[in-house]
Amino acid sequence: MNDEQTGIIINGETKLYGIIGNPVSHSFSPEMQTLAFQHVGLNAIYVPFPIQDKSIPHLLKAFSITGVRGFNVTVPFKEIIIPYLDELSSEAKILGSVNTVIGTSEGWKGYSTDGSGFVRSLSESGIAVSGKDVMLVGAGGAARSIALSLCLGGIRRLHILNRTVSKAEKLADTILRAAPNVQVRIGSDSTEPYDILINSTSVGMHGHSCPVSDDLIRKCGLIVDIIYNPPQTSLLKKAVQNGIPQENGLGMLLYQGVEAFEIWTGKKAPIEVMKTSLSNSVRRMS
Ligand code: ATR
Repeated sequence: MNDEQTGIIINGETKLYGIIGNPVSHSFSPEMQTLAFQHVGLNAIYVPFPIQDKSIPHLLKAFSITGVRGFNVTVPFKEIIIPYLDELSSEAKILGSVNTVIGTSEGWKGYSTDGSGFVRSLSESGIAVSGKDVMLVGAGGAARSIALSLCLGGIRRLHILNRTVSKAEKLADTILRAAPNVQVRIGSDSTEPYDILINSTSVGMHGHSCPVSDDLIRKCGLIVDIIYNPPQTSLLKKAVQNGIPQENGLGMLLYQGVEAFEIWTGKKAPIEVMKTSLSNSVRRMS
């Protein structure tokens, strides 16, 4: 089939990629990655696989048999999948978490592209992280991968602020082992200024709550919220009101997918095609 409206080709040569998770019905990746594959001339599609955790070993066998080339992993399998993989990237090994898997001649290799996607999104906006002082709000899965990539990217100081202090401590330990040159501290607001403040919590996704004080906001040079729906959280509104540059989470979402695409295909991702697809998906959702 060559759909004249979409230009998408599906025939006996079509290769398969996908995303495993539960739920996966909300994922924007099937459309974004399928359009990207076909835009660069790859005869491939990307589909969702809603699964149960006991299915993972069977699914990997089925993927090998049917020639699935690679897939994304989302909640709740990012950690559960690790024992079933044959190799991990250094970041995935440190984090104990995987969101992208490629089939190689040696087996399945897992990567974590959330944090590297975050850093690449900043760098594509002209913001280098090297030497920066960063306040990271949150210490969950997203925070862990962002923190590691920022520290491997050479930030100077990382201050972690999280509701549950023990999780901030655990993240600080991970970072100190992986990037001993970074100054890491945890705890409540400080009087110091920050080059970048990042909200990685879900605060602001619903309603009008803001995860940090107005005083802290005013001390930051750039504010990034990894939430993309709503596109402007209360935190980002306050940044605008104070004349502080701000970014929402669409960039991270885009570039984690861009990095996955490049791992799978070895080709440069068609970033504009992927960005348009994501923007359309977000618009349809809101
Ligand atoms: P994700 O994979 O999206 O990072 P997660 O691992 O569940 O999701 O982490 C959610 C983060 O948001 C955590 O830092 C969590 O704080 P706790 O570690 O204290 O649970 C934070 N978070 C969620 N709801 C919050 C709230 N109402 N107030 C403050 N922090 C909140």
